[in-house]
This record gives sequence, C-alpha cells and structure tokens, in this order.
Amino acid sequence: MRIILVTGKGGVGKTTVAASTALASADAGYKTLVTSTDPAHSLADAISVDLGSEPSRVIERLDGQQIDTQQQLDKYWGAIRRQLMDVLDWGGAAGIEAEEFLVFPGMDELFALLEVNRHARSGDYEVVVVDCAPTAETLRLLSLPEVLSWYFEKVLPTERRIMKAARPILSRLTDLPIPEDEVFSAAQSVFESIEEVRELMSQPEVTSARLVVNPEKMVIDEARRTYSYLSLFGYGVDGVVVNRVLPDMVTDPYFDRWRSIQKQHLDEIDEGFADVPRLRLRLFDDEMIGIDRLRLMASELYGDTDPVFGFKATSPFRITVRNGAVTMELDLPLVDKSDLDVFRHGRELYVRLGPYRRSFILPDALHRREVTRARLEGGGLHVTFEDPPGDG
Ligand SMILES: Nc1ncnc2c1ncn2[C@@H]1O[C@H](COP(=O)(O)OP(=O)(O)O)[C@@H](O)[C@H]1O
Ligand SMILES: [Mg+2]
Repeated sequence: MRIILVTGKGGVGKTTVAASTALASADAGYKTLVTSTDPAHSLADAISVDLGSEPSRVIERLDGQQIDTQQQLDKYWGAIRRQLMDVLDWGGAAGIEAEEFLVFPGMDELFALLEVNRHARSGDYEVVVVDCAPTAETLRLLSLPEVLSWYFEKVLPTERRIMKAARPILSRLTDLPIPEDEVFSAAQSVFESIEEVRELMSQPEVTSARLVVNPEKMVIDEARRTYSYLSLFGYGVDGVVVNRVLPDMVTDPYFDRWRSIQKQHLDEIDEGFADVPRLRLRLFDDEMIGIDRLRLMASELYGDTDPVFGFKATSPFRITVRNGAVTMELDLPLVDKSDLDVFRHGRELYVRLGPYRRSFILPDALHRREVTRARLEGGGLHVTFEDPPGDG
C-alpha cells in the first residue's frame, strides 16, 4: 500500500502531475485511486471525466474522487461542534471565539484526509494518489494533528471531568445546555481516526510527498520551505517534479533569455534537492488535459521507472545511542539556524521552525535525561540527551 501526496505552489502543475502519476500507476497494474483534497477541485477537469465525492471508475484499475471537504467536516465534526459551542458559550467564551476555537482554518482538509485514510485501509486500492491543496494549506493541515492532540489530550478531558461532576447539580439548578458524555466520546473517536491518519502518513515507506516545482524563483523558494517543513513533521519526500522546462527544440531567440533564467533555476533545484530524485518535464505545446495527453506526460515523466514503487522516501527522523548518550536526529534540509529554535518543556521537546512548531513527547527513557546539546549540522538537527551528572 502506498500513498503519494502531490503538492507544490498554486498553478505549478500539481493536479496534472497527480493525474498522470495515477494513470501511470494503473497502467503499471496497480489498483489505484486518485483523489483531491484541494477544496478548489480541478481533477475532473484535468482528466476530462465527471468525478463525484465517492470514487468512480476512470479507466481499468483507476478510480477518481473529488472529496467534498465541507461535507466531510459536517459529517465528522458538525454535531460535536454544535454541542461544544453551547458549553463554551455558557462558560462565558464569546460566541465568535468559541466558533474559531472549534473550527480552525484547514480543518476541512484535515477531515478530507480521513477519507484518504478510509480508502487506503479499505484494501480496495494498492496506491492512492492525492492531489493536495497548495503548499501552505497542506502544511498547516499536516501540522494539525499536533494541534489537535494537544486539544484532545489537555482540554477535552478536563472539560469532560468537570461536566461529569457538575451535570447532576447543574441539571437541577438550571436549564442551560449541558453536553452529554456522548459528545465527548464522539469527539474522542474523531480524534482516534485522526490519529490513524497521522499514523499512516508518518510512515515514509507508506506515505511520501512528491513536490512539483517550476524553474522559477518564487516557486523554488516555496518548495524549499515545504521540504524543510515536511521533514520537521516527519514526512518523507520521494521526488521533485520539475515541470514546464523549456525543451531544446524551442530555438526561437525570443526565448533565449528565458532559457538562461531557467538554466540558473534548474541548477539551483539540483543543488537544493540533491538528495531527492529530480524528474524534469518539458513545457508541452498544449494544455495537458484528457487521458491521452496525461498518459503522454506520464511516459515522459517516468519512462521505464515504476511510477510508484520506483521512488522511496526515508524517514527524516532517527534515534541513535552511542556511549550512553541518546541522540535524536531530524533531517532539516535547507534550514537557516536563525529560523530554528529548540526547547524543552517538561516531557516535551519543542522544535520551532519559522511559524511552525512540532512537539515531541519524550519517551520515559529520555525524559529523565538532560538535553546536553542541540546543533544544526549537515542539514540535520541533532539533539543529545545524557544522564544527569552523578547519576552513574
Ligand atoms: N508541462 C506542462 N506543459 C503544458 N501545460 C501544462 C504543463 N503542466 C501543467 N500544464 C497546464 O497548466 C495548467 C495548470 O496546471 P494544474 O495541474 O492545474 O496546476 P495546479 O494543480 O498546481 O494548480 C493546466 O491547464 C495544465 O494543463
Ligand atoms: Mg490543482
């Protein structure tokens, strides 16, 4: 089972690359689903078939789907949200804040991933290709499980305990809304499904991201940031598709300047992503719409390489033990030291990278040790834990 997340800046060719990768996968013999979590769907337009919110057949071995993200959000979160809103309002939080607290940006895409999880685990497919929302959206969404786990581990149990204790008294004294314990268990089960998604997505041998870029400055800058952030959250990148490269057959002097600009950027991509396979794709002389053209694109993109299993991502995260010292190693490619902050709070280690923060819950064996060193070296963050002095 493999999940390929196709991502990149808006307009770089994500949908086209996702669709042609899925076609190539089906043609290679794998039962494949291509699905879109981008609320601005264009998958159906790219393939030129109708797609609904449930998978439907595109060609032999290939199903397609455009997830209705709003519907997903309502289905999993609607009732819970309404009940929790009542409690929070009653507790004094202003309505608008409660609303914001309970539905945060990107949450619809998070719930769309539950759908990806469902199909991935159904046994119906060997490969799921996901046409993701543009970079920033996807990233926020990927960091959500971290936010949610905090919410569910810290906030919800407290609320639940208070409610349990207070319910008998409150129901005698007032007619204010009091949430039933079922709301909390429903919320708990949503959380467990999200944990399943996270579990599936954090195994690089199952899930990997494929970044799509164009040889353009702003696109590359954003892709570099994406690469770093994906690593921070433990996601593997298995390839970079460099799309819209001017082909050699274009000799018109009008494009000379463009060609030299692209040359510089192509070099930059080769440097920045040296440890990931880079696949170049020419700017075609046509819009790449419909199954025939997507197949042409796929054949130029992958050639004889298996479009799915021919690419491997490794985990950016490792723990090593040497001379009694435990080192946590996190590949953080293309990161500037000034953007990075590492600190410990109780049982958690926090790594902040620009606006993104990840917390690692330290295992028992580590939480008694002290962090003796954190350094950024060779594209990786190394955090060393040692026994406190005098502890043997
Ligand atoms: N290599 C290419 N050559 C020509 N047209 C392309 C190429 N890649 C993508 N396109 C076209 O560019 C447009 C945008 O691509 P799309 O895949 O929808 O981008 P995204 O999903 O990243 O927003 C589409 O019309 C697509 O057919
Ligand atoms: Mg798209």
